[in-house]
Amino acid sequence: MVVYLVGAGPGDPDLVTLKAIKALEMADVVVYDRLANEEILKYANGSEMIYVGKRAGAHSKKQEEINEILIEQGKKHDTVVRLKGGDPFVFGRGGEEMMALLGEGIPVELVPGVTSAIGVPTTVGLPVTHRGVATSLTVVTGHEDPTKKEKQVQWNYNTDTIVILMGVGHLEENMREIKKHKDPQTPVCVIENGTMPDERIITGTLENIAQKDINPPALVIIGPVVDVFKSIKKLEDKL
Ligand SMILES: C[S@@+](CC[C@H](N)C(=O)[O-])C[C@H]1O[C@@H](n2cnc3c(N)ncnc32)[C@H](O)[C@@H]1O
Repeated sequence: MVVYLVGAGPGDPDLVTLKAIKALEMADVVVYDRLANEEILKYANGSEMIYVGKRAGAHSKKQEEINEILIEQGKKHDTVVRLKGGDPFVFGRGGEEMMALLGEGIPVELVPGVTSAIGVPTTVGLPVTHRGVATSLTVVTGHEDPTKKEKQVQWNYNTDTIVILMGVGHLEENMREIKKHKDPQTPVCVIENGTMPDERIITGTLENIAQKDINPPALVIIGPVVDVFKSIKKLEDKL
């Protein structure tokens, strides 16, 4: 018995690792979330499929229920794949699942994925660090668990680039908070459905980005690297 915690990447099926494909090919059962692209499930030909993500109008399973399913499946089968979008350890709750499994004596193998936080900006030509412009990067959630006793996200990050995941719902209030610590004219780039055919890129500033039409899933990238992205685009357009 072994459970593979596997990252599925940000959506483009060509951004899945060979190790993820090999794990899917071996899987007796695949436990998966809502993925940007379900095409990669084809590698798990013949495996039992258990969906634990959120569908429109339906509630997603609680993390404790997912842990229970993984433990049950892990005890029953030789090879279980737990498939998650992006990387399992970047806002994927992979650490919690791993600890729950290990606590029950079930071994875990880890297969990293291309995280949307970095892979999506790279695919559009937005370097999250850039010599002379940005030497630090903060990846942060835009939707902190409201049941937490104390807020951990304070928005006063002393960093050159901020990448916000799950940042659409609270975009306006988060931009307001960041403006307390950064110039309101700081450039912002939002990438919706990165690496997918319906990808959209919207640019603006801390001041005006929340007024634009933005839909999830999206990344919000803040900092002078957005100007580097614009320079790269201009050079590309000249080709
Ligand atoms: C629960 S987090 C999971 C992140 C994932 N583990 C990763 O490493 O990319 C979901 C958030 O990731 C971001 N995201 C995931 N896929 C994306 C994509 N293809 N384009 C833009 N943002 C994406 C969005 O901010 C979305 O709200």
